[in-house]
Amino acid sequence: MHAVVHSCSLTGLDGVVIDVEVDISNGLPKHTVVGLPDTAVQEARERTKSAIRNSGAVFPDRRLTVNLAPADIRKEGPIHDLSMAVGILLASGQLDGFTDGTAVFLGELSLDGGVRHADGVLPMVALARDAGMDKAFVPHADGVEAAIVEGIQVYPVESLQQLIAHYMGTIRIDPLPVTEMSSTDTKYPVDFADIRGQDHVKRALEVAAAGAHNVLMIGPPGSGKTLLARALPSILPAMSLDEAIEVTKIYSVAGQLSDGRALMSARPFRSPHHTVTYAGLVGGGSTPRPGEISLAHRGVLFLDELPEFGRQSLESLRQPLEDGVITITRAAYSVEMPARVMMVAAMNPSPSGFADTDAADQRFSSRAAQRYRQRISGPLLDRIDVHVDVPRLDYASMAGPAVSDSSADIQTRVAEARERQSMRLQSHDLHVNAELTARLVPRICTLDEPAETLLRQAHDRLGLSGRGHHRVLKLARTIADLAASESIQTQHLAEALNYRPQLDDEG
Ligand SMILES: Nc1ncnc2c1ncn2[C@@H]1O[C@H](COP(=O)(O)OP(=O)(O)OP(=O)(O)O)[C@@H](O)[C@H]1O
Ligand SMILES: [Mg+2]
Repeated sequence: MHAVVHSCSLTGLDGVVIDVEVDISNGLPKHTVVGLPDTAVQEARERTKSAIRNSGAVFPDRRLTVNLAPADIRKEGPIHDLSMAVGILLASGQLDGFTDGTAVFLGELSLDGGVRHADGVLPMVALARDAGMDKAFVPHADGVEAAIVEGIQVYPVESLQQLIAHYMGTIRIDPLPVTEMSSTDTKYPVDFADIRGQDHVKRALEVAAAGAHNVLMIGPPGSGKTLLARALPSILPAMSLDEAIEVTKIYSVAGQLSDGRALMSARPFRSPHHTVTYAGLVGGGSTPRPGEISLAHRGVLFLDELPEFGRQSLESLRQPLEDGVITITRAAYSVEMPARVMMVAAMNPSPSGFADTDAADQRFSSRAAQRYRQRISGPLLDRIDVHVDVPRLDYASMAGPAVSDSSADIQTRVAEARERQSMRLQSHDLHVNAELTARLVPRICTLDEPAETLLRQAHDRLGLSGRGHHRVLKLARTIADLAASESIQTQHLAEALNYRPQLDDEG
């Protein structure tokens, strides 16, 4: 007797549908599993056997062979338990009502037959649908997450016993309704209206958000850098459904979906500590797990106390900041993970935390401060378009009434500016000004007459490098977009020049 059912295998966010073939023949009782790595076979055999027995079904005492195909695909973890149990029951004639030849069965079994939560159910169900499957039986705990995928029916399963009863017709498991994205559950912890003073920093963050430029904030302890960075996701345009699904898939694979386990609708904000390992930042492990930079995909990667991060970590950010994807290579695999982030970094002006003068209104230009900043590699600094000082607040601004636009107001302006950019850039397959290439900058970022004159003067006076020149133009383009201006005018350019690094010159 022979049966085939289906399961899924994931590597990173990609995967394939697995055929689980079960063959039962006469002969001495022997239970063989092929197609799994050696270490996992023993455990899978024991779990399926106990789960079947403890679900009131019979484990066939004959010659039993289970084959997971294709054989050359890496199969990790106990996710195939449920499909193996269903295959064994089917091949031994214990599932009369079974008609689900185009379904996937996903889940780890406990010894008593319970179906346990598994990581990565959402991307697996999505790929099952793409492979032509029409039903997915998933762990009950992962049902809402899986039901985000449209075009496939998702059945939440509590136990093997329940599934058997479903096929025997004694109870019915109903498919879940498609999980909707509700905009009301998008809650951000900090609103711009709650932050006092620092108007020029808020403006800089608005500009950065509008063009997806990376930001570096420099200021003494307690001046509000962390607070301001935390508020940033609240002014970025709301995520589209497709973006939300992309992000949720990454969190599903990482096993980091929070308890409701529904769709992630708020933009991620990740703030890894500077002691984070290389693998923690870029991803990796024996099964590929997303790192912080992928967990920040479509959101903000906040690097607090930037100079304290290891050199290797900072270097590893260069390629993904450019490409929006990160390639994780190990002996056993090589996978790509999405990593399109806005990087926000913060640092104190010197290792002691304060500028040597400790005066709020002075430029931090001491030697010690310069050396501290030189710990950050030039190429990384070069990917940061907006540099802004965050001074200590005076009493009046801290004690006075909070007067500031709310995040919602700013978000509207940012969204409008992005709309203008995507109209202009869509023929180049780009979305935001930060993505402009050296070839496109001169064509897209055109100055009006007076602005041209200002740039010519500034170029020599400030000793702008070629790189600095392009950076200023991109930023000026974004500032003009916020002002709904088709050409870049003097005031836009002047503001962009203000966001240049203020210590050593860019080189
Ligand atoms: N502009 C501000 N408006 C309202 N509260 C503020 C502001 N600045 C600082 N605070 C208060 O001070 C606390 C510390 O601010 P924050 O953690 O952002 O400082 P920081 O600049 O990141 O300091 P550090 O360099 O030590 O990390 C905040 O949690 C908040 O309570
Ligand atoms: Mg801080």
